[in-house]
Amino acid sequence: MTVATKSQSDVADRSLADAGSRRVEWAGREMPVLASIRKRVAAEQPFKGLRIGACLHVTTETANLAITLRDAGASVALCASNPLSTQDDAAAALVQNEGIATFARKGEDRETYYRHIEAVLDTKPQITMDDGADVVTLLHTTRKDLLPNVKGGTEETTTGVIRLRAMAAEGVLAYPIIAVNEARTKHMFDNQYGTGQSAIDGLLRATNILIAGKTAVVCGYGWVGRGVASRFRGMGAIVIVVEVDPLRGLEAAMDGYQVMPIADAASRGDIFLTTTGNLNVIGGQHFACMKDGAIVANAGHFNDEIEIPALEKQSKGKRTIRPFVEEYSHESGKKIFLLAEGRLLNHAAAEANPAAVMDMSFANQVLAIEYLLNQGSGLKPDVYPVPADLDALIARLKLEAMGMRIDTMTDAQRTYSQSWKAGT
Ligand code: NAI
Repeated sequence: MTVATKSQSDVADRSLADAGSRRVEWAGREMPVLASIRKRVAAEQPFKGLRIGACLHVTTETANLAITLRDAGASVALCASNPLSTQDDAAAALVQNEGIATFARKGEDRETYYRHIEAVLDTKPQITMDDGADVVTLLHTTRKDLLPNVKGGTEETTTGVIRLRAMAAEGVLAYPIIAVNEARTKHMFDNQYGTGQSAIDGLLRATNILIAGKTAVVCGYGWVGRGVASRFRGMGAIVIVVEVDPLRGLEAAMDGYQVMPIADAASRGDIFLTTTGNLNVIGGQHFACMKDGAIVANAGHFNDEIEIPALEKQSKGKRTIRPFVEEYSHESGKKIFLLAEGRLLNHAAAEANPAAVMDMSFANQVLAIEYLLNQGSGLKPDVYPVPADLDALIARLKLEAMGMRIDTMTDAQRTYSQSWKAGT
């Protein structure tokens, strides 16, 4: 069995380990569903001897997931799914105090980022856990030799699932992958309530601006966008929503937001936040008509939602004003402020999504791997949803942990709700 050792790990500062462990413990307090699953799998050892290669945001919540997988019997190798999202103390805690091979440094350059993914692949994972499909992409391009080892995988985010579905449609996907993002207990909570809050947290930590009275432009009214928009509104902003999907645009309109194309919103916004998973949503022509002092940031997966090369081209120079705040001197004389290099704002400038929502996302991850293993070779290479009963189980456990209960239908109600004969 190939296992990365503690000495092979690569983290920024191992002396942060104890501080990291305290924060991992703090996050764990908000993750009761994962804790209950951890207790069970530690006893049952369903992942005994299994090699798991995970490429996730290396945060205190992910540390709780990695510990759960280890306690279930797996040997885990972890690297970052974004160069700016690593919490160095959590990474140090995993290596020093938990003995989990970790390859992640906050602010790592592109070369290091990919070297770290390669290091995880060198452990010959049998299960891959991705957040954005970078591991799967390497496995299907430069590291095809490793594919025979892989039994299956999971994918955490919207953007990754889109990439995987494209691979499946082309017939190139070589193993089954569970789209954890599509569990309702994932995207309805993590993307909406988690990122809805933490993206605003990132904005505030980076800038310390007052949101009340500002015009906030939210690009995309999906799960992340609606979460962010409602929090902007709750804090007193005038909110404009930009969409390409008529249904989602209509929802935004009926939720009470102004809906307009980005070309119209560009000159009105004080703050712009992209949440689309799409390319160049804010582009060169839009920077040209922005107000002096406009703040531009992204909460979608990749740093290509804002066309940064166009901003660079239109600018006479740039300087760092505060951590994660880059001031661009636009050729027109105005200043435009780009946050966190256009990367995930909540991960770069804040502490990512709160543990209480990652609790459900990561409970899905563990149950999805168990499900994959139980299916054996029964699942052909494709992208699969998390089974609905597991999704419902996680929601039930979360409600219970919150001290709330729901009703159960009576037999008569169940019959009635499934019957077509009842009428007026
Ligand atoms: P979603 O698919 O529910 O929503 C995306 C929305 O953007 C859709 O309504 C789509 O019509 C719209 N859109 C696409 N192109 C557009 C354009 N050019 N202009 C305006 N709107 C456009 O996806 P979801 O779940 O909201 O995720 C969005 C992004 O956020 C993805 O990249 C996802 O991976 C990422 N994500 C980031 C998280 C974080 O921690 N920052 C957490 C969860 C998701």
